[in-house]
Amino acid sequence: GTQKLTDAFGRRISYLRISVTDRCDLRCRYCMSEAMTFLPRSALLSLEEIALIADRFIARGVTKIRLTGGEPLVRRGVDELAKRIGRHLGQGLDELTLTTNGTRLVEHAEALAAAGVRRINVSLDSLDADRFRTITRTGDLARVMAGIDAAVAAGLRIKINMVALKGVNEDEIEPMLAWCADRGFTLSLIETMPLGAIDEDRVDRYLPLTAVTDRLRERYTLVPDDYRTGGPSRYWRVQELDARLGLISPLTNNFCDGCNRVRLTTEGQLYMCLGHDDRVDLKAAYRNGGIAAVDAAIDEALRLKPRAHDFRIDRRAATPAVARHMSVTGG
Ligand code: GTP
Ligand code: 5AD
Ligand code: SF4
Repeated sequence: GTQKLTDAFGRRISYLRISVTDRCDLRCRYCMSEAMTFLPRSALLSLEEIALIADRFIARGVTKIRLTGGEPLVRRGVDELAKRIGRHLGQGLDELTLTTNGTRLVEHAEALAAAGVRRINVSLDSLDADRFRTITRTGDLARVMAGIDAAVAAGLRIKINMVALKGVNEDEIEPMLAWCADRGFTLSLIETMPLGAIDEDRVDRYLPLTAVTDRLRERYTLVPDDYRTGGPSRYWRVQELDARLGLISPLTNNFCDGCNRVRLTTEGQLYMCLGHDDRVDLKAAYRNGGIAAVDAAIDEALRLKPRAHDFRIDRRAATPAVARHMSVTGG
């Protein structure tokens, strides 16, 4: 098939997230265990294979591509990949973006901007250096801040992703919002999702964003904002700060009805949902049958796309809903 991509529930797929590596230079506690192991390099798609698969998705109606990981900027050659995919901008592709932890933006911001990237999402869960180190286990906040500055200097717009964690950074939500407002950054808050084994119990860390907005409303006026990016965030205007706040609430406000995305892993598996194991092996399809086999495998995948995730954070579900980590599926 070469038709546009529509799943069994009539949802159009227009957003491809590509995890270019499962590796990361940080070890965020809510994301992975300290003893996380990574895939052998031999298991990975080559950058050329990733680009060819991206071409097919664009030809079939994907208008938005995001590079993720792991940390995408730790993969050698990622700037060239961005440049290669960026050639489609204005010719089918509307947006090429990236989600990064920011540690290597100083080195990459210019090249990304030159590739046609206009905005990026930077994961940042604390503005306090000691706390940042505790959350990420290895991170240096100053480096991330330098990276953010470099991205701004390169002309990239920035959204900050903050996972809201009970007893960890819940007291920093207002300061983070003010910090973002000062800089003209959007802040997106994220509920922790039960993906992959970690060293702590997610139930202890889970903070429903409904509780956060109740609290914010004591201080600020939140007005619904119909700004949309094609991602899962639902936006609010924080009137007093003239800021935009995004909420990614898979647990308290399921957004699967409007799902428009699929995910390609580093190993070439096309996952149809963050919260399910349904997938097809595009690497095998490509290596055994070339691009035509990739198209057929994409068609098969669309039929498998589940209606919704079934994430829950409760006593019974203290173990992850799916075994693979966010860093493998690409968020
Ligand atoms: P924008 O283009 O700025 O809207 O980005 P995005 O929110 O699509 O991407 P980003 O990589 O910043 O993702 C932010 C968070 O949203 C991550 O924690 C993702 O895992 C989560 N997320 C993205 N898509 C989905 C989804 O389909 N389901 C769930 N449960 N979470 C998602
Ligand atoms: N639940 C929610 N968000 C997570 N992230 C990583 N692991 C999880 C999880 N289990 C976040 C990162 C990054 C984004 C891509 O996903 O902080 O902002
Ligand atoms: Fe790395 Fe992102 Fe996971 Fe942190 S959340 S360890 S930055 S992949």
